[in-house]
Amino acid sequence: MKAVVVTSFVESPRLVDLADPRPGPGEILVAVRYASINPVDWAASTGALTGLAKNRFPLILGFDGVGRVEALGDGATHFAVGDLVFGQFWGDVLQYGTYAERLTIAERPSFGAVQTIPDGVDPRVAAAVPTAGMTAYGALELLDLRPGDSLLILGATGGVGVLAMQLAAQAALSVTATTRADAADRIRLLGATKTIDYATQAIGDALRTTDPEGLDGVLDLVGDPEGVDIAARHVRDGGKVVSVAGGVTGELAAQSRVTATNYLLDDKPARLRWVGERLAAGGLVVPIDREVSLTEAPEAVQAARQGGARGKTVIRVG
Ligand SMILES: NC(=O)c1ccc[n+]([C@@H]2O[C@H](COP(=O)([O-])OP(=O)(O)OC[C@H]3O[C@@H](n4cnc5c(N)ncnc54)[C@H](OP(=O)(O)O)[C@@H]3O)[C@@H](O)[C@H]2O)c1
Repeated sequence: MKAVVVTSFVESPRLVDLADPRPGPGEILVAVRYASINPVDWAASTGALTGLAKNRFPLILGFDGVGRVEALGDGATHFAVGDLVFGQFWGDVLQYGTYAERLTIAERPSFGAVQTIPDGVDPRVAAAVPTAGMTAYGALELLDLRPGDSLLILGATGGVGVLAMQLAAQAALSVTATTRADAADRIRLLGATKTIDYATQAIGDALRTTDPEGLDGVLDLVGDPEGVDIAARHVRDGGKVVSVAGGVTGELAAQSRVTATNYLLDDKPARLRWVGERLAAGGLVVPIDREVSLTEAPEAVQAARQGGARGKTVIRVG
């Protein structure tokens, strides 16, 4: 099968031919149809997840995707051959990712979550959404804001941002979002009330105009501690700051005026179920910025690392 791999943590991803994997006990074999790119894919390829997961080379990249169950390992009973499944395919060991024609995964993966695609959901969209959708949902849940509250989203244009934006607007929050100017109109269409061009405006100054009465919450998707600190100063007493990108320093977390937390995606099976239900109900637009073939995936994953995402990049696999 074709697969995009690294064989060490210092090389760039490349397309190779590998033997098809075979499902072990409790595992399923999935013929992948679509994958999508997330920043965590790059992290896996550089060894940044070593503290979190074991790795085996050649390491096939990719966590998110959609595919058809082709075979069941001994004792696997949760899925049937032929089921179309989606999710975050993150097992005990990082080896068989979604940037490949086939993968094996425990039907109840230790770190990820896999389920059948709800009826009527486009497989491309289902492949694009798992990590970003679950993260947007989990982070907003932690913020726990009320209708009418004001929220600043730092970095609203990427995979998590475009979904968090919509969920926040659907929860009747008043959202200010930081974005480059080229994406401001799109971000407003997804629900932002106000936008700040972070490339040309100092965020602290801009917030004095956009939110003169202060913010109830900040959702950071960028991970710049200085930017998070500046934003936190505009949060009203008792408000909340949540970063999914490690932007909350120990110092900020330790003060008591606002609650500031770094969030790591948790409770994935329940969150994936919720994302699937939202997709099936037609309540989420998943902007697909770019679609590439598996052959183009090594270049696309490098390009994604340079920034500039406007929604999701999907990889067409089979
Ligand atoms: N904690 C968790 O469990 C978890 C789960 C999923 C993702 N994450 C993290 O969440 C972050 C976002 O993920 P993603 O999938 O949305 O990434 P993405 O699709 O690559 O999007 C990142 C976006 O941020 C924008 N950006 C970059 N610098 C910015 C800045 N200074 N101000 C405002 N926007 C900026 C980029 O556009 P421009 O370059 O054009 O500005 C791009 O649109 C990543 O750090 C990822 O690792 C964490």
